[in-house]
Amino acid sequence: MAEWQKSDWRKKPRVQMPDYTDDAALKATEAKLASYPPLVFAGEARSLKAKLGAASRGEAFLLQGGDCAESFAQFNADHIRDTFKVMLQMAMVLTYGAKVPVVKVGRMAGQFAKPRSAPVEVVDGVELPSYRGDIINDLDFTSASRIPNPDKMLQAYTQAAATLNLLRAFSTGGYADVHQVHAWTLGFTEGEKAARYRAMATRISDTLDFMKAAGVDSDGAHTLRTVDFYTSHEGLLLEYEEALTRLDSTSGKWLAGSGHMLWIGDRTRQPDGAHVEFCRGVQNPIGLKCGPTTTAEDLKVLMNKLNPENEAGRLTLIARFGAGNVGDHLPRLIKAVKEEGANVLWTCDPMHGNTIKSSTGYKTRPFDSVLREVRDFFGVHKAEGTIPGGVHFEMTGQDVTECTGGVRAVSEEDLSDRYHTACDPRLNASQSLELAFLVAEELSGLREERQAQAV
Ligand code: PEP
Ligand code: CO
Repeated sequence: MAEWQKSDWRKKPRVQMPDYTDDAALKATEAKLASYPPLVFAGEARSLKAKLGAASRGEAFLLQGGDCAESFAQFNADHIRDTFKVMLQMAMVLTYGAKVPVVKVGRMAGQFAKPRSAPVEVVDGVELPSYRGDIINDLDFTSASRIPNPDKMLQAYTQAAATLNLLRAFSTGGYADVHQVHAWTLGFTEGEKAARYRAMATRISDTLDFMKAAGVDSDGAHTLRTVDFYTSHEGLLLEYEEALTRLDSTSGKWLAGSGHMLWIGDRTRQPDGAHVEFCRGVQNPIGLKCGPTTTAEDLKVLMNKLNPENEAGRLTLIARFGAGNVGDHLPRLIKAVKEEGANVLWTCDPMHGNTIKSSTGYKTRPFDSVLREVRDFFGVHKAEGTIPGGVHFEMTGQDVTECTGGVRAVSEEDLSDRYHTACDPRLNASQSLELAFLVAEELSGLREERQAQAV
């Protein structure tokens, strides 16, 4: 790896990246960013890697979640706090089900650039370049807004730094104290499912009460009041990533300083492309989206390129096939992993294969499809004897109406009420928590089975 340079991606074919028109402005921005401090440190990325390694062995479980795309306009403390809070609640529920630590990774503090299915957008016969996320251009449908502007990288950096600062404060400042388990399910009022969630919430709060009474929570309070929270985003805008990449003096290895974990999207995973070239050279944990078009052959090449030393926790495979398609694709990719003897962490993104257009014209995702993909993912791993090690959600702590369904059902007609996403539809706080209860049920079933086998 000694010969790898952070600019090597520039010699490779690139897709899904903007063509900046003002080269001088771009160079000036890159130089500025390169002089700024990195947002994360190598030791943190290494500790996350160790935890993801544990998850790949079934000794931990990964919860990765946050916005599809962070937005400059919706940047405020409440938004960050609410997503952080619902992730902690979900983690508590998942921990209860899995009885292993839950590794919490936000799609936050850097998730600004978006791959698009088409390079242009046509509205009423007018064609403009697509919106590519706030780090690149603007959402407004005017030709000026859609011109890629390198200055926006500086605003993204500042927003990421402020977001991370608040997350770090919440993680250590007592905000992580999660004891109000009952209050979380107050919105779940009716039906058999709601009763099941409430019963689990009761068991969790009983456990917490017991720990408190037994004194575990007084001296050992630390563990329940502070939390490790990591950041991640798609490593898409490589000018930004390169400018924040630093040599770590402790290990002598490169670190992408823009976030703890980066992932490679389903549209940018060409084995010989720019994105793979960049990610292969940095020591951060790397995610790789695996979709219906991922071939076993490509996956083998990618695993060897991205994790040549077969390090545990280095590579997370994020399966996103769509409900009903998991059985067609996951087994063949699991087979490829087995054939290579590769160490990987398998996680499930039940969002990106399940986007549809509602009858009312909104891009949405039915909660039932999301749930079905998660269940199928667990089912295939059970059949293959492999480990389902985590989940990856597009979600927010706010009460939006972007995905349909859930126990507090959002209908197609409701979508227009609070549809705020700049990109893909997110689960709202209630739907996110509901999903955590359902995943917890899967995990506790898995655990009981393992125990029964061990007896
Ligand atoms: C995403 O995670 O926001 C995304 C675009 O996913 P994918 O690359 O899997 O389509
Ligand atoms: Co998305």
